[in-house]
Amino acid sequence: MEMGYADFLYFCNQKTKSNKNPMKEQIIESRIQECQLSELTAEEQKAIHLAIEGTRRSYTPYSNFHVGAGVILNNGQEYIGCNQENAAFPAGLCAERTALFAAGAQYPDNPVKILAIAARGTDDELTEEPVSPCGTCRQVIIETETRHSQQVIILLYGRRCIYRMEGIRHLMPLSFTEF
Ligand code: THU
Repeated sequence: MEMGYADFLYFCNQKTKSNKNPMKEQIIESRIQECQLSELTAEEQKAIHLAIEGTRRSYTPYSNFHVGAGVILNNGQEYIGCNQENAAFPAGLCAERTALFAAGAQYPDNPVKILAIAARGTDDELTEEPVSPCGTCRQVIIETETRHSQQVIILLYGRRCIYRMEGIRHLMPLSFTEF
């Protein structure tokens, strides 16, 4: 039988009274390396180069924020992605997803090894700080990892430094992966 709201509140308070311990807390850690281009492998540098090239190809008449993505697959195939905007805003797509979906369409069985992201602002300069993927793109990266059972090396480019991480879990803990 369903509980009414008053019964529910009574139930909540009973639980609290009988709980002598404070709330349990989980500390979730992310491992993110802050590095320079010279510290990366040749393949990782290539992925960043692709992402920077992507910033030059974006279609962004509304935001003027040019995002590029570089994807390298296990088989060495390379993809460039860039944001594609639309007058009806939700119809556009982020750079990361254009690259990941293109790779998925071309090589559905080939795992994604590296995903690099870079962006250029309205001043046309590459951003000083590393640029981070939006929540929806993080969800798509999770799906990419799950489908291929392989973590993606993620590189977020900034002129000051590059953030490098092995696996999207460092950017999105407690993620939704199955139902
Ligand atoms: N954008 C991306 O391409 N990737 C992200 O992860 C964040 C946002 C794009 C969407 C839009 O074209 C512009 O950046 C401004 O939000």
